[in-house]
Formats: sequence, C-alpha cells, structure tokens
Amino acid sequence: MPYISSGKAKDIYEASNDKLLFEFTDRVTAFDGKKKAEYQEKGEITCRMAEYWFKIMEQEGIPTHYISCPTPTSMLVKRLDIVPVEVIWRNYAAGSLLRRYEAGGVELPDGVEPEEGAPIPGGMIEFTTKFEAVDRPVDIKEILYNGWMSEQEIKYVTKLTKRINEVLGSGLSNADIILADFKVEYGRTPDGEIILADEVGTPDGCRFWDKAEFENGVIKSLDKDVFRKGTGDLTAAYGELFERIQKV
Ligand code: TMP
Ligand code: ASP
Repeated sequence: MPYISSGKAKDIYEASNDKLLFEFTDRVTAFDGKKKAEYQEKGEITCRMAEYWFKIMEQEGIPTHYISCPTPTSMLVKRLDIVPVEVIWRNYAAGSLLRRYEAGGVELPDGVEPEEGAPIPGGMIEFTTKFEAVDRPVDIKEILYNGWMSEQEIKYVTKLTKRINEVLGSGLSNADIILADFKVEYGRTPDGEIILADEVGTPDGCRFWDKAEFENGVIKSLDKDVFRKGTGDLTAAYGELFERIQKV
C-alpha cells in the first residue's frame, strides 16, 4: 500500500482512491515532538479505543470517517479534505489553557479559578492550527479570514463538538472517569459534508481523570499526561482506562 505520511502516533497509507489506512504505532510524543518514546501495546489500545468510540458516535448520529479495523492496530477510513483547524473542548482547566493564562495570553471564562481541575461551567471551545509546525491557538476571525471554515461551518462544528462531549462524557461517567478536555478534527467529504475525522476518545487526544480520586482532591490521569508529566507508565494507564470503559 502506498505510504502517504506520518503523524505523531499514526502512519498513513493510501488504501484506494477514496480510502486511507491508519496504522496506530507505539510512538508517543509531547510538547510539539520534543519528548518522544515508544510503549508496547499503545498502538493497539489507542486503535481499539478509537474504534470503540467511533462506533458509538455513529450510533448517536454523529457522522465519522470510520469504516473498519482490518487488524488490531489499523483502521480503514474515508479519505477527506481535512479542515486545517483542530477543535478543543474543555470541561476543566488544564494543560495549555493554564500555561497560556500564566503567560498572559488568554483570559479564563468568568469565575474559573486558574488551577488544574477548576471546572469550566458550560465548557469552552478553542481552535488551533493543524498544519503549522506548532499548534497555535486561533480565533474565529482568523479562521474566517483564512477561509478555513465558514461561519456556518464553525457553528456546525461547535454543535457537533458539544454533542461529542456529551456522548463521551456520559460513557465515561459510567466508568467513574471525568472527561477534562479533548481535541477533535473534522474533514469534508467530496459532497462538502463535514464529518468527524482522525480519532476520538483516545487517551492521546483527551484528558481523563479518575473521578473518585478527583473527589478527594487528587488528579489521577489516565491519559497522555502520565507521559507529558512523567508520572507513570503509559501502557498501564491506557490499559486501565480501556478496561474500565469496556466494563460498563
Ligand atoms: P492542551 O491543553 O495541550 O491545549 O490540550 C487540550 C486537549 O487536546 C488535551 O486533551 C490534549 C489534546 N490535544 C491533542 O490531542 N493534540 C494537540 O495537538 C493539542 C494541541 C491538544
Ligand atoms: N501539541 C501538543 C504537544 O505536542 C499536544 C500533545 O501533547 O498531544 O505537546
């Protein structure tokens, strides 16, 4: 199969004119690729988790590019024209939101405390660039100016992302897991329909916190933060997460 390109964790091949094959590797990177490693089984766990959530999204009426998983680490998807904007939804303050706040680059919504774990009532959406060397936050004005999405598309994507938050959040709360934030990507089909692309609900692209620990004032991450912060074994955290989700 012709090789196309590699992302942080996935290799992409051309399966046919209108289909791609994602190979989920054991690679993990953070801080714009400055920190790198490999963890056994990571590719398989993230592929199976993405498959698990894509199927649920489809059942919930959210259109996605998912087709099938021919092997435990690969996924066949519809080839799309990727919207050059990543969409981030936050239910709690964490990560780059706090870093940017501390650097004076962003204001927090009214009443949100500047600390990890502070709830963001009603949640908030943010956008970043997708095809620049570093993911840079962008506002709606810049998205419109660059023609990356129309006003109507931004509204639609916002609505879909809120719905994805609800679907992920309700599945996770049954597993006593808090969805702190997540990132999604969208693409256009040849008819111009915008559908969910890349992956969804994996610990590479979401922050998941153990709810019981959180209620005791402790943030126990079951996601890539264990690697970003160097606080634990990534395979163990990802494995625990997937086991807990599948049980409910
Ligand atoms: P952030 O706090 O680094 O902005 O990340 C917010 C959420 O989005 C977090 O769950 C990680 C995810 N994310 C990605 O998966 N890829 C990215 O390139 C970015 C910027 C965020
Ligand atoms: N852009 C961030 C980084 O490269 C996202 C992540 O950690 O997943 O660190």
